[in-house]
Amino acid sequence: MPAARSPDRLKTGLTMTIHAAPTAIDPHELRTAMSRFATGVAVVTTFDGEKREGLTVNSFSSLSLDPPLVVWSLRKNSPSLATFQRATGFAVNILCADRRELSHHFATPHSDKFLGVEYDDGSFGFPVFSGNLALFECRKSQVVEGGDHLMFIGEVLRVTYRDDVPLIISSGRYCTPLAPANSARCKRFDLDRSRRNRGG
Ligand SMILES: Cc1cc2nc3c(=O)[nH]c(=O)nc-3n(C[C@H](O)[C@H](O)[C@H](O)COP(=O)(O)O)c2cc1C
Repeated sequence: MPAARSPDRLKTGLTMTIHAAPTAIDPHELRTAMSRFATGVAVVTTFDGEKREGLTVNSFSSLSLDPPLVVWSLRKNSPSLATFQRATGFAVNILCADRRELSHHFATPHSDKFLGVEYDDGSFGFPVFSGNLALFECRKSQVVEGGDHLMFIGEVLRVTYRDDVPLIISSGRYCTPLAPANSARCKRFDLDRSRRNRGG
């Protein structure tokens, strides 16, 4: 039975007991459980003035709206790490469903992953692909340690997007969303839209 931390009193007056994690979580089990959290797929790219680097990630996430911050994580023993550490920023290319090959390419170690790949230098010199679902061009704001990974936090300097079908990864398999015509719109987005319309 894991040790329980003493109950925290929340502002609401409710109490919450947090159970400390058992000491040994099997990394394979953890990875498999995490893979049930379906995500989009992105290729994060950078250029440090000498070398271009890029890798496929699904750790990308929104962090803050004001200031506009995003985050993704890179394993500490990645050969790409030194270039990402030297560079002043990065571009996050969010992939469409028809970009499985590009995702696979940038998830495979290679001394120059940009050989034979079409890209341009974007607005800030970081490699950008055509046909992205969305693009976040960022200035590196902070690098934070998290276990065997480093979290790269970026301030979004420029963002573009379009409507198309996203590439999704779920349980280690690429998939595309099923979106029946009458699928319900997420309430959160309706709320955001009504706030914008009110100017709030
Ligand atoms: C769908 C998918 C998501 C991935 N997400 C990450 C990630 O968030 N962080 C990471 O370090 N590696 C991630 N990887 C693994 C890297 O893409 C892969 O290890 C790549 O070769 C790393 O580049 P490197 O060889 O230059 O280190 C992911 C791979 C796939 C296929």
